[in-house]
Amino acid sequence: MNCQLAHQVRIILKIAFIFAASSFVRAGEVEVLHYWTSGGEAAAINILKQMVQDSGHTWKDFVVTGGSGVQARSELNHRVLLRNPPAATVLKGESIKRWARFNYLANLDEISKREDWDAKLPKVIADDMKFEGHYVATPVNVHRSNWMWVNKPILDAVGAKVPTNWAEFEAVAKKIQKAGYPVIAAGNEPWQDATLFESVALAVGGSEFYLDAFVKHDTSVLRSKTMDKVFEQMDRLKPFLAPSTGSEAWDAATKQVINGEAAFQFMGDWAKGEFILANKQPGRDYICATTPGTEGSFIYVVDSFAMFKLEGESKIEAQLALASDVMSERFQIAFNKAKGSIPARIDLSLNGFDQCAQKSKKDFMDASQNGMLLPSIAHGMATTEQVLDQFSPSVAKSWRNGVEPDQAAAQLSKAIRYGVYYLQ
Ligand code: GAL
Repeated sequence: MNCQLAHQVRIILKIAFIFAASSFVRAGEVEVLHYWTSGGEAAAINILKQMVQDSGHTWKDFVVTGGSGVQARSELNHRVLLRNPPAATVLKGESIKRWARFNYLANLDEISKREDWDAKLPKVIADDMKFEGHYVATPVNVHRSNWMWVNKPILDAVGAKVPTNWAEFEAVAKKIQKAGYPVIAAGNEPWQDATLFESVALAVGGSEFYLDAFVKHDTSVLRSKTMDKVFEQMDRLKPFLAPSTGSEAWDAATKQVINGEAAFQFMGDWAKGEFILANKQPGRDYICATTPGTEGSFIYVVDSFAMFKLEGESKIEAQLALASDVMSERFQIAFNKAKGSIPARIDLSLNGFDQCAQKSKKDFMDASQNGMLLPSIAHGMATTEQVLDQFSPSVAKSWRNGVEPDQAAAQLSKAIRYGVYYLQ
């Protein structure tokens, strides 16, 4: 082989080697702790699993059953105590700050700058993902908790319109009950009751009352006549609760509305993931409407993956691949279409999303403009885990046990104060 040819072969081999080296993926394992087990939730998380596998890494599932991540949070505490935290976990709002404050979370500055996350996220969401200005988590979506899911055939059967305030709701509910249909599907779990409660509080007291009570934890507001009225309104809804199906899971209640076994469910738009899975069409089979009395306000819930500090290059590379996948257009679109939420990235078009998602996005943008974007307390956006773990059980216990409204308000105020001063 003449030396010129040999020289060319050497150059080609070098280029091939450099190329191979640059595209070489140090295959790593990324363990993800999450609680997404309902049909719609599982369909959505499977999209991410597939993307991680496609990028040459291994997804290790650590699933903790139980809606809203209540059990997952204590399992995470347990894992950390055992000095064996997962690579990533679904966390929200204040919990992210808590783990970052304890110095457990990885600094994502390099990738967030390279991929310009600040330009793609609303400030309220970017700030939620940061601790002391450094990204430590990636947002997957924007859920809204103040939604009402309506079975359309039942509503049509009694000739009713979608109620827009609680007085209208009670009138429609009486008609539906008289016609022999169960009215409100709701699992008997504190976080589900708390999800309804935060919307009723917003409808009865307004956004300032909501923020004073659930973010500032102002005792005079928590003990106010307005809070008594919130519990009174909750009590007027109780006679309309549909009998239990035997399962208290939130998605069992959604299935009651899907199957025409109940007319309404008050739940965040993760419920829509179940309607999608059942091939139900908004406007034809069901109606997504803002919870009565809360039109114009948006109670937001942002799911995110908090990234724990790791050792080992391949593990870190797999974790960064996960973070990059989560912030990718492909994932933000596919995941949110399945999950029922809207993308956290506001630079993406919602073409191909249904009318509920279009409404959610418009309402999110409008609410961001006019100060009506409110962090969900029931889902850990508004306050600490310690307060949340006092708030939901207090609301549920008082409501389910028929405690007098003023007593219920007093107990809630006491529970929140205990959570505020409870040691970290
Ligand atoms: C919420 C969470 C949602 C949804 C729901 C039910 O707290 O943000 O993603 O999964 O719980 O489990």
